[in-house]
Amino acid sequence: MIWTRIVNFLLGRRPAPPPERVALVVPAHAGPLIRRASELPEDAHAAPLPRFRSSAADASRPARSDRQLDQRRQKLQRAFTPSQPVRDERRFAGRKETLVSLIRAVEEQNLHAVIFGDRGMGKTSMLHVFSRLAREARYIVRYTSCSETSEFDPIFRAITADIPLLYHADFDPTSEEAERGGTLADLLPEQTLTPVRISESLARLSGTRVLIMLDEFDRVQSIDFKRSIAELIKNLSDQSIPVQIVIAGVAGNLNELLEHIPSIRRNVAGIPVTGMADDEVRELIHMGEGASDLTFTDEARDDVVNAAQGSPYVAGLVAQYAASDALDRDSTEVETRDVHSGITRALGEVKVRMGPASQLHLRVLLADVPPEAVAPLAQEGLRNFGMVHGGSPSDTKRAMVIARAVEAGVLAADQSHGGRDFRFTDDSVALYLWLAACLV
Ligand SMILES: Nc1ncnc2c1ncn2[C@@H]1O[C@H](COP(=O)(O)OP(=O)(O)OP(=O)(O)O)[C@@H](O)[C@H]1O
Ligand SMILES: [Mg+2]
Repeated sequence: MIWTRIVNFLLGRRPAPPPERVALVVPAHAGPLIRRASELPEDAHAAPLPRFRSSAADASRPARSDRQLDQRRQKLQRAFTPSQPVRDERRFAGRKETLVSLIRAVEEQNLHAVIFGDRGMGKTSMLHVFSRLAREARYIVRYTSCSETSEFDPIFRAITADIPLLYHADFDPTSEEAERGGTLADLLPEQTLTPVRISESLARLSGTRVLIMLDEFDRVQSIDFKRSIAELIKNLSDQSIPVQIVIAGVAGNLNELLEHIPSIRRNVAGIPVTGMADDEVRELIHMGEGASDLTFTDEARDDVVNAAQGSPYVAGLVAQYAASDALDRDSTEVETRDVHSGITRALGEVKVRMGPASQLHLRVLLADVPPEAVAPLAQEGLRNFGMVHGGSPSDTKRAMVIARAVEAGVLAADQSHGGRDFRFTDDSVALYLWLAACLV
């Protein structure tokens, strides 16, 4: 018996299911009776526990009778990944022109680059795909995700620990140190690293080009860190050192991301990552269809495109939920009803992630104004970095909705353009209102 189990385990076979559980039921009108659990009347069961719907085991292992459904779900999880950036270029939709601008800036103009755009627009995905292309072209690429506590010294020690001594002008590739796998970090002084010290070290590089990616730069709190990066960029540019820095972060424009370090504007290329064109969102869905073996009807695809308003995150989220609901119906074709239930689930997720104040603002507004009346403002906000134009004074309906939204705390006057504009106090509120209106 134990040997059969071991052999089954080694062959990846699952043990035979245990005999169906039996339950002892004592109906009011009869004596004791033994029945199978599956024969119990509906109301005799406690609510069943929810279950995972697919197996975490490798999809290639022989599994249960519903293995096909399992595999479809696993494929779907990889097809649309709203909670993760894209790493695989086969899942990277659109953005070709942006990618070309980035490659040209780095390769031909020897510039450093700053990728900026709204949250969830695909900056990190762009960095990952760009990194892959650069590695293919034999660049040394080092990716770092910044945080509130990022500091210059540890980050650059870690980065230089990935640059082999092989590329140091003072070390022969056959030298003992290079052959032992030494890195640039081995040569750094013990004192705290400064931009000058690190540029002196990087200046000794030869026979390679290095790309340093600093993602989520908007999260950095330390102005010192930002200034040090600016100084480093200046030194690298002035001394033509073959090391380029690519920064990515949430910002409406280049200045916002570089507010404390305006001195480097001439040394960097600004690469905006704006909303995707509808055709790019269609491409994203099409790639997901190929990867999941599911198809979207034309109407369902249009509904996802409309819900996304150019956001790859929203497109992926709604498409994934909708496709999962189609699988629940045992169908490989995603229809508009699935997209509607997908949007409903996405709404729940957006709301949960909102802060309590924003939830309150939303409740107050929706008690007074239906989502479809706010939809044009929400759509404008999603397409325009949260900004909404005051509109013409003769458009009284719009003015009234804006006034209500301001009262509720959903919109606030923005003084930056003469006080005629408004902005959503929380961009997830704009998304919520838009998605809610898509269901009407
Ligand atoms: N070109 C693309 N093709 C397909 N999916 C994409 C693309 N760009 C982004 N996505 C998807 O959109 C979502 C957000 O992408 P990503 O994390 O790269 O955005 P981001 O701008 O870095 O977000 P954040 O502002 O939160 O850092 C992810 O689910 C990712 O899979
Ligand atoms: Mg990111």
